[in-house]
Amino acid sequence: MKGRLILLGLIALATGLYSQPTPVQPATVQGSVHSISLPNFNPEMPDAPNRDAFLNSCTVCHSARYVLMQFPLSRTVWTAEVKKMRKNYRCPVPDAQIEKLVDYLMVVRGAKSVSDVH
Ligand code: HEC
Repeated sequence: MKGRLILLGLIALATGLYSQPTPVQPATVQGSVHSISLPNFNPEMPDAPNRDAFLNSCTVCHSARYVLMQFPLSRTVWTAEVKKMRKNYRCPVPDAQIEKLVDYLMVVRGAKSVSDVH
């Protein structure tokens, strides 16, 4: 008798656990639905060596635009910037790739003359 009760209990438990949840009815929308288009500037990054490395490492958290918005920077400053992204925000860049990323950054946003350096 006791065994039968335990068995019934187990069946009740199992059917309870595996029963399908009641499907949620989608909310009905009153009136018409309006939509707006926000401006979206997502620049195509210039083609140069290490572009893929840049896209893989530097657009995980923010857009490429964030990088293009910067003043042209010197190699030293870009190197510090990549290291900052790595140290402060855990950007996944192996040591061997820092130079390559900086090469690309110098092509797209490097200071061309001393007066460009910020
Ligand atoms: C793990 C997330 C993450 C990744 C990956 C990342 N960044 Fe950032 N980056 C940030 C955050 C967060 C900020 C904003 C910092 C602030 O507002 O102070 C930022 C800001 C910047 C800025 C603006 C200047 C500054 O220092 O705040 C530049 C330039 C930049 N990132 C370049 C890069 C480059 C180049 C890479 C690739 C090597 C990269 N980021 C990868 C998180 C990331």
